Amino acid sequence: MFLEVEDLNTYYGASHVLQGISLTVNKGEIVALLGRNGMGKSTTLKSIMGLVKPKSGKVLLNGQDLAGKPPHMVARAGIGYVPEERRIFPNLSVLDNLAMGIKSGQNKNGQNGNIWTVDRVFEHFAKLKERAKQKGCLLSGGEQQMLAIGRSLMGNPELLLVDEPTEGLAPILVQEVREVLDDINKAGMSILLVEHNLKVAMSLADRIYLMGKAHIGFAGSVEELENQPEIREKYLEV
Ligand SMILES: Nc1ncnc2c1ncn2[C@@H]1O[C@H](COP(=O)(O)OP(=O)(O)OP(=O)(O)O)[C@@H](O)[C@H]1O
Ligand SMILES: [Mg+2]
Repeated sequence: MFLEVEDLNTYYGASHVLQGISLTVNKGEIVALLGRNGMGKSTTLKSIMGLVKPKSGKVLLNGQDLAGKPPHMVARAGIGYVPEERRIFPNLSVLDNLAMGIKSGQNKNGQNGNIWTVDRVFEHFAKLKERAKQKGCLLSGGEQQMLAIGRSLMGNPELLLVDEPTEGLAPILVQEVREVLDDINKAGMSILLVEHNLKVAMSLADRIYLMGKAHIGFAGSVEELENQPEIREKYLEV
């Protein structure tokens, strides 16, 4: 097992927002974490990344426990994070934004010695290459999302945590982001994906976890979820 999250408990003040979350990601997989608003999906990613400190539980990456470590150490250990709000630097160029991805913590080993460079990012994101010298604020929403993903790759993660990458994007851009995730996964990247677009998630994922309030309510394959409308109704549909 590559990423093993074991019995994670996280609080915001007195509110117990993750109550014993356990999940795994195998090498090379895309695993989707889905559920309705406010269930704790983003908090799960933040707790893995060290942006929120879990009260108890383990975050094992290749057997090393990262739970409670600060984000730059988690990044150096090999986990990249693309936040929901993208947080690109509006006044920096695309190139300088990519360079910032190294600063937030770089995994020196790369993914099997495979190091991400600006050129390699541009191979996967042709649109960003065209706009290399433009300021971040001039990019479209879809391009900003590509940039946020590209920037996180510059840290040489072995696993990428991606929070709602298609949120707020026009349908054509949703497809472009979907393809980029598919493409970097085929290049070997393992991904834990939080996504509200069920079609996108089901088309990308090897396995699915569904969250109910503060807990995992379902774990299974895409096929198992397809065959159980009552589960989808319980955890997804409104
Ligand atoms: N910084 C915070 N302080 C206090 N409570 C918070 C904070 N962030 C989130 N919460 C609460 O924790 C719970 C889980 O939130 P979280 O953002 O993880 O949900 P989510 O599943 O990502 O939802 P969404 O689909 O809306 O993004 C919610 O009840 C939310 O209101
Ligand atoms: Mg969220």
